[in-house]
Amino acid sequence: MKKICVIGLGYIGLPTSAIFARAGFEVVGVDVNEKVIHTLNEGNIHIEEPGLGEAVKEGVDAGNLRASTKPEEADVFIIAVPTPVYEDKTANTEYVAQATRDILPYLLKGNTIIVESTIPPRTIDDVVAPILRDANWDLEANELLVSHCPERVIPGKIMDELIHNTRVVGGLTPEAAKKAADVYRAVVKGDIHETVAVTAEMSKLMENTFRDVNIALANELAKVSDKLDVNAHEVINFANMHPRVNILQPGPGVGGHCIAVDPYFIIEKAKEETPLMQRAREINDSMPSFVVEQIEELTQLKMSPKIAIFGLSYKANVDDVRESPAVTIARKLQNHEKGFTITCHDPFVKQDMTDLQLESVEDALKEADVALVLADHRQFKEMDPSLFAKYMKTPVVLDTRNCIKDHEGMTLYQIGHLTGLKPIE
Ligand SMILES: NC(=O)c1ccc[n+]([C@@H]2O[C@H](COP(=O)([O-])OP(=O)(O)OC[C@H]3O[C@@H](n4cnc5c(N)ncnc54)[C@H](O)[C@@H]3O)[C@@H](O)[C@H]2O)c1
Repeated sequence: MKKICVIGLGYIGLPTSAIFARAGFEVVGVDVNEKVIHTLNEGNIHIEEPGLGEAVKEGVDAGNLRASTKPEEADVFIIAVPTPVYEDKTANTEYVAQATRDILPYLLKGNTIIVESTIPPRTIDDVVAPILRDANWDLEANELLVSHCPERVIPGKIMDELIHNTRVVGGLTPEAAKKAADVYRAVVKGDIHETVAVTAEMSKLMENTFRDVNIALANELAKVSDKLDVNAHEVINFANMHPRVNILQPGPGVGGHCIAVDPYFIIEKAKEETPLMQRAREINDSMPSFVVEQIEELTQLKMSPKIAIFGLSYKANVDDVRESPAVTIARKLQNHEKGFTITCHDPFVKQDMTDLQLESVEDALKEADVALVLADHRQFKEMDPSLFAKYMKTPVVLDTRNCIKDHEGMTLYQIGHLTGLKPIE
């Protein structure tokens, strides 16, 4: 059976390793973080993902899955290291370049190399291939078969989507694409499409850019609706009854490490040609200020108002606060010249937020002037709305996610439906 060496054992690399191990491959997972290696070799995991713990334990117990700080000779190398952006929003491809340099001493003629990390267009051609060519590999003669196969899994369903999603495999040569597709065919039940590397790179980036632009459209509609006194949620609901329309939802902004980041990978390579993508990023990034403006208007007659924030993560039902617009809003209010008192409640976030105190529902709401809902966690959707009137000084709720049930005795405003918003007395 084939041997696979996976470089980077995070949210993508570890589930991928476990799934290939389960299919009977010999898998060596490599990470620079020694703590991760130690945890995995004991059959435990360092990240939360349903079904992952069992799969890793099964692989380690069966002797199919090992973790190491050093790569080893193998038939297939899969690179799943981070691709963050620098402060100026340009892509940092250095982790991918380093992972490519790291495997050089272990490469043998005929090996397949697959980059799964999300990468800017032409990274396979302009970053990965030159490193391999400099080491005297003839890639045009397919001495090594190099491809990009982007991941489109959603956290929470990774183990299922790794198997059932449709995959796009872009090869440096047609033979490379075919070889990589054959590797995935051993575990993937979805369709697998072969193309050239740059098309695979761009298709992944366009998926998230499409969502970013669509959300920007919904956010713009929310602002228009405020001006024209229309309910944007009803508008979206009716517009989406058209069989070919699917407008996403407005909200407090876009966060996380995919939708808010991937458009920059295209923008960086084609600045002049991407005014729409750039504008969409700006519109989504403007939403935290728009939310803060509504709070300012609501509380303009109050001295030192207390704001109870519900939800700090960047989306529903996750603990991930990376690039979260909710955190941006909380900090803007915390440092506001009006001297707001901020309390926060989030049933998922466990990490210490240093400057933002996490409280129970009751403590967060106690004596609050406004409850500001920033994540549509299931607990908020199911929350008894009478609690707002029970604990708050003035039961006014600004719901940026359209997830709170209305109830008598409270005043509910929504981003997208701010009709009648007036200062609290
Ligand atoms: N997390 C997601 O839901 C998701 C979805 C689609 C695509 N992606 C993309 O997949 C890639 C990986 O993302 P992730 O969420 O798994 O990242 P992660 O931060 O969870 O894991 C990356 C791992 O790589 C390790 N690493 C870094 N450099 C290394 C090296 N030279 N050798 C060995 N290990 C190294 C890090 O220590 C870390 O454990 C990124 O490009 C990301 O954009 C992620």
